[in-house]
Amino acid sequence: MKKSSIKSGNAFPNVRLRRLRTSPAIRDLFQETRLSAKDLIAPVFVQEGLKKPEAIESMPDIQRIPLSKLAGEVEHISDLGIRAVILFGLPSHKDTEATSAFDDNGIVQQSVELVRKQFGSRMAIVTDVCLCQYTSHGHCGLVFNKKIDNDRSIDTLAKVAISHAKAGADIVAPSAMMDGQVQAIRKGLDGAGYTDVAIMGYSAKQASPLYAPFRDAAHSAPEFGDRRTYQMPFSNAKEAMREIETDIAEGADIVMVKPAIPYLDLIHRARQATNLPICAYSVSGEYALIKAAAMNGWVDEDAVMTEFLTSIKRAGADMIITYQAKKMAELLRK
Ligand code: PBG
Ligand code: ZN
Repeated sequence: MKKSSIKSGNAFPNVRLRRLRTSPAIRDLFQETRLSAKDLIAPVFVQEGLKKPEAIESMPDIQRIPLSKLAGEVEHISDLGIRAVILFGLPSHKDTEATSAFDDNGIVQQSVELVRKQFGSRMAIVTDVCLCQYTSHGHCGLVFNKKIDNDRSIDTLAKVAISHAKAGADIVAPSAMMDGQVQAIRKGLDGAGYTDVAIMGYSAKQASPLYAPFRDAAHSAPEFGDRRTYQMPFSNAKEAMREIETDIAEGADIVMVKPAIPYLDLIHRARQATNLPICAYSVSGEYALIKAAAMNGWVDEDAVMTEFLTSIKRAGADMIITYQAKKMAELLRK
């Protein structure tokens, strides 16, 4: 028999769906999708050479922090029951080859070492692997003749991933949207002996205006042109599935859809297409939209956050990167 067959006798007045909504206890019992702090990954921006935490105007309540504040921040995240952070580095030096991205003493490498040392295996460490914060031109790949050179870029991305693994990262997350980046990183990691370091591909990463606050936060806006020769056109769902398929074929352990809320259809399609874990990245602009409305008193931030994050999970995501991770985890403890 089909699961849902609505015919006479199987509909009103025999069926009254409101029976399952009569009280908070009843509603809790029948809740299909539940958020847990364990689903959430908290982003952290660490800036080299910073003296004290700095507010980010377009991302209220989020800060860039110096290395000296990282342990305290991760302690707070851990105390809330969150098991994973994703680290973003802001280096003091940028150049055309993104050398500070694969420097063993770079800001992310130092951050990873510190968290690993202080937290052991209590905290899963994910690192964003990209070049845009580290290149003088702000593109996610290396530039040759005003164009992004795919194959040179993936060699550098592999070097970055290896340096993160060497520092102690559990999961490296390439976000540059270069073809073959997952394969190059897998080969690089295995060749260097890091066979247990997992790869989270930013597989279906859209060319989205919703990254604007992040680029403020991370000083990573491109100096010329835009990212549309490498990030996905948001009109193309079939192409998004090909991005996911190729990442899986190249050896990704986790695939990602990013942004999250405008792309619940892609999360759902990905869920149908693969048994790999799926991560959704609810990006800076999604955060800023909610925050701005909430700060004006136009929406209830806790309620909207709960609805949005629950919807992302209901669509099929196993884990969510969100700037509201701490706030959501706090709310879940109440
Ligand atoms: C780096 C990177 C970006 C984001 C995550 N990793 C920026 C970009 O692609 O321009 C965006 C995250 C966000 O907006 O929260 N490539
Ligand atoms: Zn980038």
